[in-house]
Amino acid sequence: MKRRPEGIGIGFRMDMAEELLERAPESVGWLELHPENYIRRGGRYRSRLAEARERWPLVTHGLTMSFGCTRPHEREYMDDLRDFLRDVASPWHSDHACFGGAHGSHVHDLLPVPFTDEAVSTMQARVREAQDQLDVEIAVENVSYYAAQAEDPLLEIDFLLEVLEGSDAKLMLDVNNVYVNSQNFGFDPKIWIDKVPVERVVQMHVAGHYVRQDGLRIDTHGEAICDGVYELLDYTLRRVGPVPVLLERDNNIPPLDVVLAEVEQLSAIYDSATSGTTTAQSVERA
Ligand SMILES: [Fe+2]
Repeated sequence: MKRRPEGIGIGFRMDMAEELLERAPESVGWLELHPENYIRRGGRYRSRLAEARERWPLVTHGLTMSFGCTRPHEREYMDDLRDFLRDVASPWHSDHACFGGAHGSHVHDLLPVPFTDEAVSTMQARVREAQDQLDVEIAVENVSYYAAQAEDPLLEIDFLLEVLEGSDAKLMLDVNNVYVNSQNFGFDPKIWIDKVPVERVVQMHVAGHYVRQDGLRIDTHGEAICDGVYELLDYTLRRVGPVPVLLERDNNIPPLDVVLAEVEQLSAIYDSATSGTTTAQSVERA
């Protein structure tokens, strides 16, 4: 039987895998992992992953699919990815609403796409192609961006709504990214959240970000979560219901106890915001 992720999850990282597996903290409800770290890799990576799967539901989150790219997905990679997703029984697979390269080159950055009708069509086609090739639900994640695209005819949230509706995809809602963009570009993040189609949200991300001296906020995943993001998460959970939330921490990794303290804080918000609520998905399944 497939176990569904519930509550608060953390990223499965090799540098803390041993301690995490040994302690197996109750507060961690599930783990997220990047397939790119495991595909065509054996040894310690695969054995630790097998141990983690015994203990927690696993959910995959990709870094390289780039739904905003105009070229088709690489068939060989997609075949490997499909097999991997089956192996770990991920309930869905998420990747970003961005592009990551052009003309055969790939960069390890999440580059923003213009919010245009043309980019909507491109992204819808790429998401549908992934759904067909991977045989699993695809969730698209909203990203942080740093250059105002003043000429764009669509707002980011309206762009995403069109992508999701046209491809029948799910949303991997990154609450920190909404907050970072709202502070950098001066909009109300709650109005953004109010437009989210709750029935499409399968998972959320929260993270800490860096605030530069000039006030620009950078999505680093390397700091503690700030009060504004906690507050926006609480607001979002009250609207969306008990959707699993991942704590993203990829830089300046602190000791596991510090991560677990953030998990406890997130759990308290999760419990109080979702008590007595249900998700659109859970009503559907009932
Ligand atoms: Fe994220």
